[in-house]
Amino acid sequence: MANTVLIGSQWGDEGKGKIIDVLTANADWVVRYQGGNNAGHTVEIGDQKYVLHLTPSGILRDGCKCVIGNGLVVDIVGLMGELKDLVARGISLDGRLFISDRAHIVLQYHKMVDGAKEGKADAGKKIGTTQRGIGPAYMDKADRIGLRLGDILEVDFLDMVRQQAEDKNEILVRFGAEPLDIDAFLPQVQVAAEYLRPFITDTIPLLHEAVRRGDEILFEGAQGVMLDVDFGTYPFVTSSSTGAGGAPAGSGVPPNAIDRVIGIIKAYTTRVGEGPFPTELKDGIGAHIAKVGHEFGATTGRPRRCGWFDAVIARYSAMVGGINEWALMKLDVLDAVETIKVCVAYECDGERIDTVPASIRRLERCTPVYEEFKGWQTPTTGCTRWEELPEQAQKYVKYLEGLTGVKVGILSVGPKRESTLLLDR
Ligand code: GDP
Ligand code: IMO
Ligand code: MG
Repeated sequence: MANTVLIGSQWGDEGKGKIIDVLTANADWVVRYQGGNNAGHTVEIGDQKYVLHLTPSGILRDGCKCVIGNGLVVDIVGLMGELKDLVARGISLDGRLFISDRAHIVLQYHKMVDGAKEGKADAGKKIGTTQRGIGPAYMDKADRIGLRLGDILEVDFLDMVRQQAEDKNEILVRFGAEPLDIDAFLPQVQVAAEYLRPFITDTIPLLHEAVRRGDEILFEGAQGVMLDVDFGTYPFVTSSSTGAGGAPAGSGVPPNAIDRVIGIIKAYTTRVGEGPFPTELKDGIGAHIAKVGHEFGATTGRPRRCGWFDAVIARYSAMVGGINEWALMKLDVLDAVETIKVCVAYECDGERIDTVPASIRRLERCTPVYEEFKGWQTPTTGCTRWEELPEQAQKYVKYLEGLTGVKVGILSVGPKRESTLLLDR
């Protein structure tokens, strides 16, 4: 039995939800450990499509238990809506969902501050956030003023919320934004708090007991290494530790209980929101990839920017994340591309570099050094075994393995469960 962390290795939306769902067939627990409902994880099962924002993707497999860990910021009204939708679609939550009493709460005023900050930011400084209140909620956590899920269990919870809302209204007014109508907002908070109350618990002993028993645990990362608050393209990042290191910090399961890390990575690259993206394609090929790959944000519906595979970023993510193997996603999206390019290094200020610079100013001056690869121009979605893949597609996979120094253990050639090849070469 292996406890496995799955992390996004680019700028998010690599297909984490799909792979969690595939691997959950053999897992006892799925644990989210960071982020909030900025995440949008898609799982397609038969003709059903689910987009999960806060609920771990394991909820879609009977018998799998799910934990929303201490490292998250939880929009309680949003989560209530998400859970009600799941229940309406026949998913049972009974005895299967546990929310850490240490996780932080996101409320309407966080979203309003997020929107107001973005609205006021000068051109070039806007992050293009999902406006889900993620940054302001993590600010409250770091500032040691945040409310946590456990506070819902206290009798004066609504008084605490009122105080916070009043403080945030002062900030909103300073931003020139409309303040929150607190009296209209509090009843909504109360309804969500009551709905979530039965799920709130101390998840730490629960997970330790699971580790002790030898249960199999999957840790479901959100976002991706390039959006990590330390390792990503700061300041165009999210506010949490999206890499494998976030898993122990955001769940209470110690690092030595984690056996392996799977990096989820697309056969090309996408990014939503602002910030540098060296291999971005602004031409017809970018538009083709966006169209074939349905590259629209699962949370905000914004079009995703598309570009070639960037081996510099992949190597960096593998290094920072301790990635043992790749789940290489969306290979099928390149099926019709005649010539595929791959960035193998950057050229910056007259020198060749092969790691990601800390400064985005420097990254913005980087131009990709490309190698060209002949496409396979054959459909791959129907392939269920390595041997069925076109030879040139096999070569592409091996080529990426050579460039990144990490083997591909899982290959995905379509959004459905069955379009997944577990490679044992
Ligand atoms: P996540 O945030 O990492 O879980 O990824 P998203 O769900 O935001 O975006 C991934 C999208 O790609 C979803 O619409 C998936 O259904 C879809 N998808 C996942 N794997 C594949 C694949 O191998 N091929 C294709 N064509 N689509 C895929
Ligand atoms: P999943 O888990 C892609 C991006 C936003 C913005 C930046 C900061 O589905 O891969 P935030 O709202 O977090 O303060 O926004 O991060 N972003 C994501 N991009 N996938 C995600 O999640 C993202 N979550 C946040 O677009 O650029
Ligand atoms: Mg997503």
